[in-house]
Amino acid sequence: MNTNDEKMVILGGVPLHGEVKISGAKNSAVAVLVASILVKGKCVIENVPRVSDIYDLIGIIKSLGCEAGFVGDDVVEVDCTNIKTHVATGAAVRKIRASSYFMGALLGRLGRASVDLPGGCDFGVRPIDLHLKGFKALGAESDIEYGVVNIRADRLTGDTVYMDVVSVGATIDVMLAAVLADGMTVIDSAAKEPHVVDVANFLNSMGANIRGAGTDVIKIRGVKELHGGMFSVIPDQIEAGTFMIAAAATGGDVVVNNIIPKHMESLSAKLEEMGVGIDEYDEAIRVYVDKPELRRCNVKTQPYPGFPTDLQPQMLVLLTKAKGNSTMTENVWENRLQYVGELNRMGASITVEGGDMAIVEGGTPLTGAPVCAKDLRAGAAMVIAALMARGVTEIYNLKYIDRGYEDFEKKLKSLGAQITRRCVNPMPEVLKAAK
Ligand code: UD1
Repeated sequence: MNTNDEKMVILGGVPLHGEVKISGAKNSAVAVLVASILVKGKCVIENVPRVSDIYDLIGIIKSLGCEAGFVGDDVVEVDCTNIKTHVATGAAVRKIRASSYFMGALLGRLGRASVDLPGGCDFGVRPIDLHLKGFKALGAESDIEYGVVNIRADRLTGDTVYMDVVSVGATIDVMLAAVLADGMTVIDSAAKEPHVVDVANFLNSMGANIRGAGTDVIKIRGVKELHGGMFSVIPDQIEAGTFMIAAAATGGDVVVNNIIPKHMESLSAKLEEMGVGIDEYDEAIRVYVDKPELRRCNVKTQPYPGFPTDLQPQMLVLLTKAKGNSTMTENVWENRLQYVGELNRMGASITVEGGDMAIVEGGTPLTGAPVCAKDLRAGAAMVIAALMARGVTEIYNLKYIDRGYEDFEKKLKSLGAQITRRCVNPMPEVLKAAK
C-alpha cells in the first residue's frame, strides 16, 4: 500500500513506559551508502535502518550499474566496482536531499557527475552553492541545465575550502570528492555533526586518509584507491531524541537503548532544565517525569553540538506542556515552522514571529484532531502531540514519517501507545489545503 493512502490513528493520554532500541542513523546511512561509490570492492554496512530514503537510495545506486541491497535485517551490501555511469537522475533522486552526495561521490570516482537537483523536506531554499564552491576549489567546473547539475574535472587536486555557512551536506560532499584527489584538501569551518564523523570513519576504514572530522577543520590527504570492508553505522541521534521527547511529553518513563549519550547532550540539558529526569548510562538514557509540572525554557537550534534543528518540531510540542511562555528560535533553516498551524488546530497556542521564532504559551492541553505531517520531523512532532492529546488524532501524509523512522508505530506500541495505521479513503476536506 502507498503510504499516501494511509493514516495513523492515535488515542492520546497514555504515558509511555518501557524500553526502546534505537535504529542506525538515517542521515549517516544515506551518506555512507553513497560514499560506497568511491570504493572498488564490496562494502558490508551494518545497522542500516529500513526506511524509505534508504530504499530509494539503493534503487539509485543500482541504476548506476552497481550492486546494492539488504542482505540481512539491517545489513546492506554495496559493490560499485563495475559502476557504469556518472548520471544519477530521476524521480527518486529529486525526492531526497541525500542525492546531493552523488555529486561528490561520482565526481571523485569518475571525474564527472550529472545529478538531478536534490529534493528533501521543504524548509525554504535548500541551496547547493557551497557544494559547488568546494568542487571548484578542487578544480572541477559545473553548470546547471534543465534541473541537472553537471560537474566535471580532468583531475581533482586538493585545496583549502572555507565554508561560509556550516553545512553538513557540503562538508560531506567535499570530503567525498577529495578522498581520491591529488594532494591535501582542507575543509575549514566544517560541520561537526556525528554523521560527518561517521562518514569519515567509514571512508578511513576503507583506506582513506581523513583527519579532524568532528572539529572545525577536516584534512583529507588523497589516496589512490579505496578497498572494500565492513562498517557499522552509528545510532540515530534524531530518532533517539524523538523518543526522549515523547517520553517526557506523555509524562512517562522510558529507557532509550543503543544510543551514544554524548550525541544527546544538548537535548538532555534542555530536558533537565525543564525538570525532566535524565539518567545516563554507557549506551542508554532513561527519561522520566516525576514532577507535576514542567518548567518553561527557551531553545535555539544550532549546528552540532548545539540543539539540532531536526528535533525542533518535536521539542516545540513538549514546550506546550510547560508552565509559562517559552520560545523556539530556528537558526538553521529559513522556513521550518510551517507546521505550527497543525499544532494550533490541536489546541496549542503558538505564534510565529519573523518566520524563525515561535512563542509558545505553555499549559494549553491538546485535543485530538485530523492533522497532516508537513515533513519528516514535523510528522514525528504530530505523533508526539497526538500521544499527549485528549481523544483521537488522525495523522495523514505518512510518506514523510516513513522516510526516516523505522518501525515507528511498532516501537511506540511496545511502550504502551495506542496507535494503529489504517487505510484512508478519501482524505478529509479540511486537510486537502494543508497538504
Ligand atoms: C542535513 C540533514 C538535515 C538537517 C540539516 C541541518 C541529511 C541528509 N540531512 O541537511 O536533516 O536538517 O543537515 O542539520 O543529513 N546551505 C547553504 N549552501 C549550501 C548548503 C547549505 O547556504 O550549499 C545552508 C542551508 O540553507 C542551511 C544550512 O546551510 O541554512 C545548513 O544546511 P546543511 O547542513 O547543508 O543541511 P543538509 O546537509 O541539506
